[in-house]
Amino acid sequence: MADGAQVNDVISTEVLGEIALICIDNPPVNATGLAVREGLSQAFADLNATAEVKVIALYCAGRTFTAGADIREFGKPPRQPSLPDVLNQIEQSAIPVVSVIHGTALGGGFEIALATHARVAIKGAKVGLPEVLLGLLPGAGGTQRLPRLTGLSFALDVILSGRQVPVAEALDKGAVDRLVEGAPRDVALAAAQQVIDGTLATRRTDLIEAEYDRAVLDATLAGVRQKTPHLFSPIKCVEAVAACNLPITEGLKVERQAFLDCMETPQRAGLIHAFFGERAVSNIAEAKGPTRDIAKIGVIGGGTMGSGIATSCLIAGIPVRLIEVASEGLQRGIATITKNLDGAVSRGKLSSDKRDAAMAMLEPSLQMESLSDVDLVIEAVFEQMDVKKEIFGKLDTICKPGAILASNTSYLDVDEIAASTSRPGDVLGLHFFSPAHVMRLLEIVQGKQTAADVLATGFALAKRLKKVGVLAQVCDGFIGNRILAHYGLCAAYLVLDGASPQQVDRALEDFGFAMGPHKVGDLAGLDIGWMTRKRKAETRDPAQRYAGDIADRICENGWFGRKTGQGYYLYDSGYDSGAPVPNPEVAEIIDAVRADKGITPQDFTDDDIVDRYMTAMIVEAARVVEDGTAKRPVDVDMVFLFGYGFPRFRGGPLHYADTIGAAALVARIEAYAAEDAHYWQVPDILRKMAADGSTFADLNKEG
Ligand code: 3HC
Repeated sequence: MADGAQVNDVISTEVLGEIALICIDNPPVNATGLAVREGLSQAFADLNATAEVKVIALYCAGRTFTAGADIREFGKPPRQPSLPDVLNQIEQSAIPVVSVIHGTALGGGFEIALATHARVAIKGAKVGLPEVLLGLLPGAGGTQRLPRLTGLSFALDVILSGRQVPVAEALDKGAVDRLVEGAPRDVALAAAQQVIDGTLATRRTDLIEAEYDRAVLDATLAGVRQKTPHLFSPIKCVEAVAACNLPITEGLKVERQAFLDCMETPQRAGLIHAFFGERAVSNIAEAKGPTRDIAKIGVIGGGTMGSGIATSCLIAGIPVRLIEVASEGLQRGIATITKNLDGAVSRGKLSSDKRDAAMAMLEPSLQMESLSDVDLVIEAVFEQMDVKKEIFGKLDTICKPGAILASNTSYLDVDEIAASTSRPGDVLGLHFFSPAHVMRLLEIVQGKQTAADVLATGFALAKRLKKVGVLAQVCDGFIGNRILAHYGLCAAYLVLDGASPQQVDRALEDFGFAMGPHKVGDLAGLDIGWMTRKRKAETRDPAQRYAGDIADRICENGWFGRKTGQGYYLYDSGYDSGAPVPNPEVAEIIDAVRADKGITPQDFTDDDIVDRYMTAMIVEAARVVEDGTAKRPVDVDMVFLFGYGFPRFRGGPLHYADTIGAAALVARIEAYAAEDAHYWQVPDILRKMAADGSTFADLNKEG
């Protein structure tokens, strides 16, 4: 007869003769918040005092084993019992404990399993220690127990990559003991019986001596310093693992201190902001509610963008009809999609079978009329309003009622495009970022008349494509490109006024950007910015100092960056294999432009460069929040993390702004305004924040 007890809201126990079961039921992911820790501690104490119990099996209810510590508790005063203490208690249980893993056992969740005396995993489950992705390290024994079970190399790989390890691999490496099928409670009962029968061995991890190799640790540390030079926690991960040759109580102390050191860093705060931000962007009313079914998508335009969008849809298993006007363009589109899919296979992102299945779902066509049966059309032709309007006018007559008509425009007025149809409610912007099958950002642009279910379908599509959908309102450039246009000017002013392009790039790369803006320009093609400057020449604000002279002259030479072999840097030799080679003729152009304009070059320190560039970015980002183009600061942050290579550990421009503080930013802007009062203006929202001491994080809470 089962003797069941509810220890607290989230922990229950059952005693069935010699077997005791403990169940964690703390939706959505069974995180080990205070109630779980208290309940577990109580349950283990009670069961250890129950005479008939010979084995304890621990399992979780719901969709997954525990996903680790409750991240929402970080940054708040710690509450006892701590997870490490509970795990020590489990490890020292006189009664053998077996854990049953289903779904994902991550972070503190996997660490619970490592502290039990045997681990049984249900097929399809994954285990991992993703703390490093949050700026932390496994702080509940993971750095001490995993190397004891699996050896150093595998443990270091798991801890430093944060990857989710399929249980078959974990079994192979000794991190789990058995792989079975079944429901967690049934498996728990069976595993407990096997422990009693002696067919499932149990052992205490802390009593295993870790295999130790100083050379492996040294090589790993050197690799970490080189691969992630900005990051603090990977180094601390290696330092903690390096203590696994000590008695476990000592090793756990080293791990604890390293964990607390990481917890204090702004990197931890930035990375956790990114974790929640990624989820928060679609946690809004506009993303919820009824959606329209999308079974087939039409993509108009077989250029880089259209092909990338088509690739993304095909990888997600959605059939695509690709439209081009001429067969040459269509063939080019098919070739690009083939190349994209092959690239995904070679990067290990796609199996060959899935590549073949994706390719079979592509229907190329020269007839726009063939879009009559698709549920969504994404137009990705070049950025010209009259061309887009003509296409949308045609789509209006071709597409079935209820079909969604989307433009991939990166700055044009979606309302004007919508007005060329008789169904503006069905129109929205879906702004992908190049390469569209790789970059995770999708700006979902709401027109004035976009229907609620059309908008929600945009978010549902983002999810299917594994993208981060962010809501944006209509304006020139939406969230990302509008802000980019503003701080791009700042980079140009820095070079005009005295910095070299290489210094600007180096300063920003040291700050954490993967590439400085001039390298990005060379990669994307300098002709893109040149075309934009020419297009905007007539509407340029005469009060704003022109900053495009240097880039214009570079382009007039036909130097568009990588694709032409030279731009700010030279690409004929050396670049791909090592340090970039600055283009000496660009330095001459810069000198000439400064001389023409009578500019005496100033000295900028790297810190000056970062401060000005980041302040410019923050200024426009603040305005984007102020005028409602972005719903909340976190939406801007996620646009920059997922679309613009902003360093994730800094959380995004407005999270970073909070680390400086509004008052300091206002003071900075006012100081810069002494040089250029037109460009450097304090946004009202920032002035108000400086006055009342509020932050962008406060606005996130309100929003
Ligand atoms: N703490 C608090 N909330 C968490 C959480 C955690 N560890 N993990 C997930 N959540 C929340 C999410 O924010 C989300 O909330 P929302 O519905 O309000 O937006 C909800 O749970 C569901 O999460 P997902 O939308 O991410 O669901 P998925 O099914 O897509 O993914 C998952 C599930 C794989 C478990 C994923 O959530 C995940 O990777 N979680 C983080 C795991 C992690 O990093 N664990 C380590 C924590 S640090 C630690 O354990 C320290 C220890 O060493 C001492």
